[in-house]
Amino acid sequence: MGNVKIAPSILSCDFSRLGEEIKKVEEAGCDMLHLDVMDGHFVPNITFGPLLVETVHKITAVPLDVHLMIEDPEFYWKKFKDAGASIISFHKEVVESPEKLIDDIKKGDVRVGLALNPGTSLEDILPFVHIVDFVVVMTVVPGFGRQKFMEEPLEKVSRLSKMGVMVEVDGGIKVSNAKKVIESGADILVSGSGIFGERDPALAVKAFKALADT
Ligand code: DX5
Ligand code: ZN
Repeated sequence: MGNVKIAPSILSCDFSRLGEEIKKVEEAGCDMLHLDVMDGHFVPNITFGPLLVETVHKITAVPLDVHLMIEDPEFYWKKFKDAGASIISFHKEVVESPEKLIDDIKKGDVRVGLALNPGTSLEDILPFVHIVDFVVVMTVVPGFGRQKFMEEPLEKVSRLSKMGVMVEVDGGIKVSNAKKVIESGADILVSGSGIFGERDPALAVKAFKALADT
């Protein structure tokens, strides 16, 4: 294994100190920042849009991994690219034929991921796994941070990993359960409350990194 990347999700950070929170995880060596965009339609929660992504982009050099939990990624993805996203994932569940969107995002010089809810089967995305840069396997039902980690989707992680597909795992990951996620074949771990919910987010990033390097 080794070389697993850590992507803190700012959803659980203290937004009144956004700059300081980002600095902590950046200095601790996180590999990217995960930004959860929710529209109140695809998920029953609303977070932020391109303006915040642009703000974050101005204050950090860390690559921005924008997770679109929205109904119309075809219309909105470009606005997030222009705001500074270098990685964009969208959900298979809302796009009829993902091929064109994958192609458009790639042509925009942005890395593209296809995200998969716990209830969506791997078979649904098999035709696309080799044309995306990575697949996001959700280990919670998307919509909120701080939810309980679900074990079942790890089977999808192993299958994808054996197929040579890069896998990001998102939802409920903490230092305490990261080992089994890594052993299943994850390449990128997203963690919100497992980092920003801890007293010392920098220490949490370092603990994740230590596990990731073993
Ligand atoms: C869930 C989001 C996740 C979330 C992770 O809808 O996609 O990225 O921020 O937060 P934790 O790690 O607290 O589950
Ligand atoms: Zn996410």
